[in-house]
Amino acid sequence: MKDRQNIHGSWASRWVFIMAATGSAVGLGNIWKFPYIAGQNGGGAFVLVYLLFILAVGVPIMMAEVLVGRRGRQSPINSMREVAMEAGHAPGWSVVGWVGALAGFLIFSFYSVVAGWVLAYVAAMGNGEFLDIGSEQASKVFSRLLADPQALLIWHSVFVVLVMTVLMGGVNKGLERATKIMMPALFVLLLLLLGYSMTSGSFGEGLEFLFHFDPSELSWDAVLVALGHSFFTLSLGMGSIMAYGSYMPKNASIGGTVLTIAALDTIVALVAGMAIFPIVFANSLDPGAGPGLMFITLPVAFGHMPGGQVFGFLFFVLVALAAWTSAISLMEPGVAWMVERFGLKRGPVCIMLGMVVWLLGIAALSSFNFGSDIALFGMNIFDFLDFITANVFLPLGGLFVAVFTGWILNKKITGNELAIANPLYYLAWSVMIRYIAPIAVAAIFIFNLIEKLG
Ligand code: PHE
Repeated sequence: MKDRQNIHGSWASRWVFIMAATGSAVGLGNIWKFPYIAGQNGGGAFVLVYLLFILAVGVPIMMAEVLVGRRGRQSPINSMREVAMEAGHAPGWSVVGWVGALAGFLIFSFYSVVAGWVLAYVAAMGNGEFLDIGSEQASKVFSRLLADPQALLIWHSVFVVLVMTVLMGGVNKGLERATKIMMPALFVLLLLLLGYSMTSGSFGEGLEFLFHFDPSELSWDAVLVALGHSFFTLSLGMGSIMAYGSYMPKNASIGGTVLTIAALDTIVALVAGMAIFPIVFANSLDPGAGPGLMFITLPVAFGHMPGGQVFGFLFFVLVALAAWTSAISLMEPGVAWMVERFGLKRGPVCIMLGMVVWLLGIAALSSFNFGSDIALFGMNIFDFLDFITANVFLPLGGLFVAVFTGWILNKKITGNELAIANPLYYLAWSVMIRYIAPIAVAAIFIFNLIEKLG
């Protein structure tokens, strides 16, 4: 086979790919969303189901995305087209890349708003605004922020600029360099916070909550939430991992690499839970507080603990870094495609796309203030964007990638890219990608639609 070259560059090593993909996967999904949905769904049993989906659905689909990206060596849109044509099929498969890039924009628009809250909290924590504050006051601080479009706009804009600056630098001087600095920092901060929580929080109670197993607490709805979240948290179904895979060295094994990334992402989510819940319990707060868990409950807890100001500040810095490296990967598929399609430099492309997502973000942030009356299918714009991406776009994208690699590509291509020595492992992957993943995903897709829109 002729080896394609990627015009955008490639990761210096397998480890850089692992770090970059982990940077994409580890984000608000792990630190903000996972603890609060685990809290809302009763903890233990939910966590187990989520782990199951990561292994049975997430890992095989992530392998499929990396496979297609590395084979095509271009943006997801063009890689899907090239690889489909190589297998003797219609170039129209590129539509999966198109829908993915669109999903990236839609996710970015609300992701950037939440990341903006995080930045605002970095500042507020640093200023000691939460010292000795009660829950009621803390929720007032949060609602005041949401009601202030100007403040939201400023922080959202700062975040867009941060993300676009890294993207402008390109694969090696932007993405790779940022990854190498931010990922180690993220892991150090996480361990520091875990240590703090182990010594200052009700650690046993936190662990018990996350890992006790009581199947009677598990609702069908929780199963669906867990499956949807396994896509979101691994950055699957919209091309981020495919784009990063297109920069992956040819000699690295896809299976082992993907298992490492999925394991790291899962560890971060669990450690985030282990850092957050003990603090929540030590302060007799409610683990099921919902989206406000991180913005209302935690600041109250930090405000009452020795060293809480410093650790609260560090906590929000950690979340900001995680959100930053994820948001970069949300835009990379679109940026790479624009560069390929129009032969433009990354600079102007990033400025143009940055303006587009900046505008979309304004629509999302208006949901909490001047646009709160706008309703789409009974949801405000922010909730609608969250809903339609996590429950429609990502599962659908993942479903198509699974069908494409499992049923459309031949064994010559998938076997060659995956290069799995043990035929049993290859068989396991193909059963998962052909049957288990598509069926599970189709189920979540259909049930969610029936439940939410029906
Ligand atoms: N995985 C990221 C998180 O957990 C979100 C994300 C989704 C990033 C899809 C890229 C693509 O926060």
